[in-house]
Amino acid sequence: MSENEVGPFEPTPVEPTAVEPTPEPPPPATRVFRISRRRSGDRKPHLDSLEIEVEPGDTVLDALLRIRRIKDPSLVVRHSCMHASCGTCGVRINGRESLACDTKVAALPAKPIEVEPLANQRLVADLATDMVDFYARFEAPGLPLIRTAEVGPGAEPPDGIKAFGRFENCIECGLCLSACPIARTNHDYIGPAALAAAARVVEEPRGRDLGPVMALAAEPDSVWRCHDALQCSAVCPSAVEPAMALIALRRHILANHARRLLGRSD
Ligand code: SF4
Ligand code: FES
Repeated sequence: MSENEVGPFEPTPVEPTAVEPTPEPPPPATRVFRISRRRSGDRKPHLDSLEIEVEPGDTVLDALLRIRRIKDPSLVVRHSCMHASCGTCGVRINGRESLACDTKVAALPAKPIEVEPLANQRLVADLATDMVDFYARFEAPGLPLIRTAEVGPGAEPPDGIKAFGRFENCIECGLCLSACPIARTNHDYIGPAALAAAARVVEEPRGRDLGPVMALAAEPDSVWRCHDALQCSAVCPSAVEPAMALIALRRHILANHARRLLGRSD
């Protein structure tokens, strides 16, 4: 064979690589849930203790639905999207307002998990509350439940939209109202979510007459009723910061008042 000829192909020997064994998924764990139960006719709620196996990635909502499927089909629990968007699965978990679909069981302390319905709202049964009163609060400042589209096709959002974008994030879950100590004792207090929505309108009126919104904010059971407990902002799953919205509304009211004193119009 001349030096320009190519000999028969001889593959380079390849050392077999060791195949890593796939790690076994962690086994399901058994957890105890203490769930508030109450039906119409019951004088007060009681806690039912139920044991259920949970997978490592399970949320509290997964566990509640499994309990309902396997242990007690009569359990009333509300949910829809399963991914922290619709705001329907709000409950109190170990005493704190939370979205059940956004709370991992594994992240909770290794003791029985207490699940109760939201406070400051009428109970339907077990863990479901009637949200009608909560939604009605948004209508008080002239914010209808369903708004018509605010930005037409091809329209440019106004300057500074980032400054109030956070107030658009409210998923109307009602956690803030449940956590609010003022709402616990004063049912007429309009509440943090509706006031955050009102503040958002004031920040960006888009031609709306702000008179009714500002009048509502200045009422006795409105922004001045809040004692700055800040619980609303602490539990809000959407970073709406209702407490900051209330403070902003107070500033607007005081600024309007000062303008009136100086003989200037609002
Ligand atoms: S302000 Fe936050 S906690 Fe209150 S209803 Fe809206 S998203 Fe829920
Ligand atoms: S199910 Fe929609 S927010 Fe939890």
